[in-house]
Amino acid sequence: MWTVEALSSLSDEQIQLWAKLLERKTGIQLGEIRLSHLQTQVALRMKELQLSDPDEYFHKVGQDYQEWLAVMDRLLVKETQFFRHRESIDLVKREIFNRINARSLNDSFDAWSLGCSTGEEAYSLAAAIYDGFRLSEGNSYFSVTGTDISYSALNQARKAIYPESRLVQLSEQEKGRYFNLEQHSGQFLVKPEIAQRVNFIRGNICELDAMPKLPMDVIFCQNLLVYFRRWRRRDILKQLIDWLKPNGILIIGVGEIVGWQHKRIKALPVNGVQAYQLR
Ligand SMILES: C[S@@+](CC[C@H](N)C(=O)[O-])C[C@H]1O[C@@H](n2cnc3c(N)ncnc32)[C@H](O)[C@@H]1O
Repeated sequence: MWTVEALSSLSDEQIQLWAKLLERKTGIQLGEIRLSHLQTQVALRMKELQLSDPDEYFHKVGQDYQEWLAVMDRLLVKETQFFRHRESIDLVKREIFNRINARSLNDSFDAWSLGCSTGEEAYSLAAAIYDGFRLSEGNSYFSVTGTDISYSALNQARKAIYPESRLVQLSEQEKGRYFNLEQHSGQFLVKPEIAQRVNFIRGNICELDAMPKLPMDVIFCQNLLVYFRRWRRRDILKQLIDWLKPNGILIIGVGEIVGWQHKRIKALPVNGVQAYQLR
């Protein structure tokens, strides 16, 4: 019987080459993705292409950008959920309330979900901001930009439709507020008043210079930096400061960086959240 293991197994040298390629192009360290996952995905892709020589396939990936995109997509971890880290989303909602109370809302409130995967995080931010603004009587223009390196994840995100399994963190009331249930498919479609505020763009966090410099009130980057080396995490965070509006907030996953400081920002003392605000 056919098994992936029997098909191909990469030598240590080949694994090193793949690890270097992956890190150079995406920042991701192979150690964080299971080694067997790499072996399996490369073997499966080679089988689809009817190739049997791993060196030949590696060479092809180096020459053919579309092939690189195809295999990279399989190596990425894209796990996500709506309101995955509720405390961080709540911080965004509180920020809207505070600004409404202080009458310090600008013309537009803009948020960025970096490494947004299939869109759940970006729509969660939009839903939280939408909730915040429902209490505001003033101007309530807001936008959320989701960026990711994976084209397939972004294509999925743009459809704005999800199975109930992605909504496990939401109460029934929240589901009703943010989604329309599609009777025929049993899937949940993000309500247009939320979905139309969200825009998805392909972007590599390791190539921030190539991204538009749109000033942000909130930058949300969770469960992505954790795959990178520490120096790269710090380097990216430092660059992201340039995208923050005055009083803008940078929110990362708890523990994704330890002991990081920068003179232009201050850590926010919020329990269960790792966030920094422009001074
Ligand atoms: C584990 S998911 C996290 C999704 C979401 N942020 C969350 O916390 O639920 C990581 C996402 O980062 C994306 N990613 C990986 N490397 C990237 C890079 N260099 N630039 C942009 N996105 C990247 C992956 O495609 C994936 O969708």
